[in-house]
Amino acid sequence: MTDQPAKRVDLETIVSLSKRRGFVFQSSEIYGGTGSVWDYGPLGVELKRNVKDAWWRSNVWQRDDMVGLDAAILMHPQVWVASGHAEGFTDPLVECRNCNSRFRADHLEGDECSTCGAKGSFTEPRTFNLMFKTFMGPVEESANQVWLRPETAQGIFVNFENVVTATRRKLPFGIAQVGKAFRNEITPGNFVFRTREFEQMEIEYFVKPGTDEEHHEQWLNARLQWYKDLGMNPDRLRLRRHDPDELAHYAKDTWDIEYEFPWGWGELEGIANRADFDLKQHQEHSGRDLTYYDQEEDKHYLPYVIEPSGGVDRASLAFLMDAYTEETVTTASGAEETRVVIKFHPTLAPIKVAILPLSRNAKLTPKAKEVHELVRRRWATQYDDTQSIGRRYRRQDEIGTPLCVTVDFETVEQDNAVTIRDRDSMTQVRVPISELVATLAERLEA
Ligand code: GLY
Repeated sequence: MTDQPAKRVDLETIVSLSKRRGFVFQSSEIYGGTGSVWDYGPLGVELKRNVKDAWWRSNVWQRDDMVGLDAAILMHPQVWVASGHAEGFTDPLVECRNCNSRFRADHLEGDECSTCGAKGSFTEPRTFNLMFKTFMGPVEESANQVWLRPETAQGIFVNFENVVTATRRKLPFGIAQVGKAFRNEITPGNFVFRTREFEQMEIEYFVKPGTDEEHHEQWLNARLQWYKDLGMNPDRLRLRRHDPDELAHYAKDTWDIEYEFPWGWGELEGIANRADFDLKQHQEHSGRDLTYYDQEEDKHYLPYVIEPSGGVDRASLAFLMDAYTEETVTTASGAEETRVVIKFHPTLAPIKVAILPLSRNAKLTPKAKEVHELVRRRWATQYDDTQSIGRRYRRQDEIGTPLCVTVDFETVEQDNAVTIRDRDSMTQVRVPISELVATLAERLEA
């Protein structure tokens, strides 16, 4: 294997691999597809679950100051009036008078339409609310109108009082939630990076006013570290502070964790200081006292909020693109070939272990199935006994499986041991089947 400088994978390669190997498919493809909506295939769903599980472990299980929540997507319409989204969650929309293409006015460079090339053809910008509307119940009238949530955050704010009462939490503490959100984006794009239906991993971390800036900084560091700990290249990560004119209507200060995608830097996660904007609004609109009673100070106040808000789809795409590698390897016959290997962190790899009997055979198959049963109790596995072992290793490399376990004739005839082959180094070690699960655990869960 020769060392080569890491080459950036282009989006086309990832889109094609995603379809071929079952990470991501276009939604409703047999009907020509639905614009910018994507379905996760057998490997994509595992990757996405692993991203969410890693986030939950790190932000809920492994912290003393966090609890979880799973609020509904549909909420009382007043929530979105109070939160400011009904009024202010808009983008400026312009249309090309020549070809009717629509663009976000704040994303335009110059006055030339990028679809038809017409100059000076744009309409005046008009505000366009990004929330999807629907109706609750059978009658389609405004009294029954509800919105699909554009952020999971509001489910947390409206449950703040419930969680404090149920858990008797003291500040500072946070509530974490993972779930779908919907935005009727004018210009979605770049595969699963900007879509109209997406999944968020959000934390609302409630703090005493005056301590918010210090907590904001702690969260910036903690969240950046999370991506690095899961193997993302630190050179392709950066923090960027929002300019004042870029801040969301609720934010006092926001920083983005950005990843350098092939098309440029893009947001993976926004970490905002929302101050007491949301609780204050909900207190006013609901008439409920949402203040927190600080026993030490014998005082009621509305906590400030730090909000790390990440995109599951974006993170999954960034992890996939970041881990994609092409290496030149020399085969047994001396020929050079390209090895595509997705060097996922083991925590994120969709398939952790592949069980590969040397061949399909009356002697090897029962043993290989026995080994498979042992391993699949704990990890996502694939069993593959087709084609040559070399090709099967390549197939596993291409989906990022960290370890392959090979069952051969020695296993059944001599030592009751198997070979573990490592994805990145391609080295192999032989271990007794009695030690297999412990050895895999050491390699996968260290
Ligand atoms: N809750 C912040 C956001 O959805 O952008």
